[in-house]
Amino acid sequence: MKQETQQLPAKRSSTTISVRQLTKNYYLGRTVVPALRGINLEVARDEFVALMGPSGSGKSTLMNILGCLDKPTSGSYLLDGEPVSQMSTNQLADVRNHKIGFVFQGFNLLPWMTAQENVELPLLYSDIPAQDRRRQALAALSLLGLGSRAEHRPMELSGGQQQRVAIARALVTRPTLLLADEPTGNVDSQTGIQIMTILQKLNTRGLTIILVTHDPNIASYCQRQVKFLDGRIVDAHTIVPLQAKELLVQRSSSQANGTEEESVETRERRDGTLSEQQERRAITAVQYSTFAAHIARYHHRCGCRDHDDFDQRGECCQH
Ligand SMILES: Nc1ncnc2c1ncn2[C@@H]1O[C@H](COP(=O)(O)OP(=O)(O)OP(=O)(O)O)[C@@H](O)[C@H]1O
Ligand SMILES: [Mg+2]
Repeated sequence: MKQETQQLPAKRSSTTISVRQLTKNYYLGRTVVPALRGINLEVARDEFVALMGPSGSGKSTLMNILGCLDKPTSGSYLLDGEPVSQMSTNQLADVRNHKIGFVFQGFNLLPWMTAQENVELPLLYSDIPAQDRRRQALAALSLLGLGSRAEHRPMELSGGQQQRVAIARALVTRPTLLLADEPTGNVDSQTGIQIMTILQKLNTRGLTIILVTHDPNIASYCQRQVKFLDGRIVDAHTIVPLQAKELLVQRSSSQANGTEEESVETRERRDGTLSEQQERRAITAVQYSTFAAHIARYHHRCGCRDHDDFDQRGECCQH
């Protein structure tokens, strides 16, 4: 882990967020689903914020809006002082490509691509030569401790490894804002702490982070905890965050004493592949379609915007 942290991106100026009276309604036929009912939220440069709250309370809906993947029904969203609603398509693409890294709830890895190819995807927008794209993807994978898994496809990785590939993909463009929707939701506690160690380190180097979690332990590594209920923020308070690295060190010493709990990966190896695990790995149609909208941009060079234009290998059929 020590060597890997040397590949962390250098500190760059980070990002601020200001959200006022934000609402979001979903429409299902004649039914209106009010997912956000007037959110006010300020996130300062370099902050590390945890969004918490029960299932269906609107956390992912807000994350999608903050990540410019969806638009609010009403209200304002200023990103670095600029109203997102008034940004041109090119400006929005630029923000998504350079400023924001997004870790989706679930993995949303493309199953036919290797870990390295998945991580390279966001770089396909830029004019970075293929060799450099590969090098940067490998560096991001190494940062997450997955350098030796670059050639594996998602189905050949454990749940925790897939989650880390998703985080590597979000970091490969060296964003100033990381939006991570349950980045530790499918990993064992040890991997969760490892991920938080990396995120805390990146945060000290200038990465603004908003992270969704159901786990109070994970939230205790963040500087502020914001709680959602029924589309509203019902509580927000700052805390003195625990340092994940310290816990990691403590755990390694207890492991040396033979008291460490068995990790998920060890258990999976012992038990063979679990059907529950396979289920976790399956990319649902809903997750896939969300991500398909996101990856459509990767094929901008051929002008192809519609996911249906891609074949099973992710190649544009018009080529
Ligand atoms: N595409 C959609 N169409 C209709 N309703 C939606 C859609 N996406 C979310 N919702 C609804 O909006 C509300 C908020 O959903 P959201 O996904 O933001 O919750 P969440 O807090 O992220 O929950 P979880 O912790 O389970 O991920 C829920 O009632 C959900 O059913
Ligand atoms: Mg969610």
